[in-house]
Amino acid sequence: MEKPNLHHFSSLLLVFLFTLSLGTRTTAGRKFSIREATIDDLQLAFKHNLLTSRQLVQFYLREIKRLNPFLRAVIEVNPDALYLADKADYERKTKAPSASHSKLHGIPILVKDNIATKDKLNTTAGSYALLGSVVPRDAGVVTKLRNAGAIILGKASLSEWSYWRSNGAPSGWSARAAANLATVTLGTETDGSILCPSSYNSVVGIKPTNGLTSRAGVVPISLRQDTVGPICRTVSDAAYVLDVIAGIDQNDVATTKASRYIPKGGYAQFLRRDGLRGKRIGIVRALFNISGQTSSTPIYEKHFNTLRKGGAVLVDNLKIPHFDEIYSDGSSETTALSAEFKIYINTYLKELVASPVRSLADLIAFNNKNAKLEKVKEYGQGRFLEAEATNGIGSAEKAALLNLARFAKDDYVNLVTKNKLDAVVAPLAKVSPLLAISGSPGVVVPAGYDDGVPVGLSFGGLRGWEPKLIEMAYGFEQATKIRKPPSLTKLKF
Ligand SMILES: *[C@@H]1O[C@H](CO)[C@@H](O)[C@H](O)[C@H]1NC(C)=O
Ligand SMILES: *[C@@H]1O[C@H](CO)[C@@H](O)[C@H](O)[C@H]1NC(C)=O
Repeated sequence: MEKPNLHHFSSLLLVFLFTLSLGTRTTAGRKFSIREATIDDLQLAFKHNLLTSRQLVQFYLREIKRLNPFLRAVIEVNPDALYLADKADYERKTKAPSASHSKLHGIPILVKDNIATKDKLNTTAGSYALLGSVVPRDAGVVTKLRNAGAIILGKASLSEWSYWRSNGAPSGWSARAAANLATVTLGTETDGSILCPSSYNSVVGIKPTNGLTSRAGVVPISLRQDTVGPICRTVSDAAYVLDVIAGIDQNDVATTKASRYIPKGGYAQFLRRDGLRGKRIGIVRALFNISGQTSSTPIYEKHFNTLRKGGAVLVDNLKIPHFDEIYSDGSSETTALSAEFKIYINTYLKELVASPVRSLADLIAFNNKNAKLEKVKEYGQGRFLEAEATNGIGSAEKAALLNLARFAKDDYVNLVTKNKLDAVVAPLAKVSPLLAISGSPGVVVPAGYDDGVPVGLSFGGLRGWEPKLIEMAYGFEQATKIRKPPSLTKLKF
């Protein structure tokens, strides 16, 4: 979980970007460039025999091999990736039903290393403590990906334990690795960890409504806030991934209730060029100036005009009553998450088929025993220790949860409903705490470069508003097309 003021390259990363940049492939005398190819481009290339999944996977494997020593974004590559690619190619050749029905068929995907896969890959949340643990089954979202024919290419690095071991480590640090490479990826968010890295890497992130996507088999912080969502290069790629991963999973009860939000016909129908037309979009100026740090004001002022030009009505100068408590203090959220983490992580560890660690107490002992490997002296494990000291949801936690519920209602839901908004816009991922505490969805889209550093614009809605958010995000993306492929020459290794 990255707090808004300390996020940087937290969970996923530079993913495809690097990956897709070089490939030019010649088949039957025709050329197809993998560089910047979207899922639609790739499916078209598959269809016209310009590309196979094997070639696509080989391309990524080469890029990972070439760049990962510097980027350290991929913790593990799936040893079965080429086998899975061959299988997809065979299904396509023999016109198996699965091959024609899914946008993700034959498409390689990296998933964050806190998302369980029951295959040769380890699932460790970036920590050595879980190396050698055996998960009972694929995470719910991975089952859906496999059913759709996607190829699990590997595991992407993350801040160890999703940044819930301590707040002393650099964001993005894990003892096992740190940066990335694929067509599309999955991240997870408790507060900002999809939206924030997407914003900083000039890619699109969708943070779904809490419960819309299954959290079963995901190393948790708290199911009250955790969610799984796509990080991709384009809004359409992200919508295609969401179409596959959203929905009921019997191992996550919240998915049943949230499944009523899934629109008939899926999310792709909301990829509308005129998606901004008629939308009422709220601006809370305080979000653009958190702790006195203004967020690239000229870039966002320009985009207020982009939104207006697209036909949106801006409702400006909105206020959030408990702004400081939510954004500067954050103590209610920390208090609640601390106790919840202990409950949820203990459950996760107990359900593993085999594991060197079975409880939060074991994790703390593991870190102490392997202090050098896990850099315990340097980065600490304060959040672990605080969580271990909690004892369920007591009076302090109840009070904190009540506060959060009150903030969610007074500061966000009421703001949106009273002003009849379709979304609140915010710089970078600054809207994330409001979404986190209300279980609401958000989408971030590349919005420009501030001194060369990518910045995103995020759209926040209410529970179940993914269709509207996808409309607005797509309208904005098509009107701006700001994302540039990353230039490796600018990276200093
Ligand atoms: C999983 O971890 C074990 C133990 O370190 C290692 O031998 C194995 O290669 C890892 N799996 C993959 C796919 O990297
Ligand atoms: C940003 O906030 C600081 C105080 O936190 C204030 O002094 C400053 O005027 C604000 N800047 C803008 C552009 O609103």
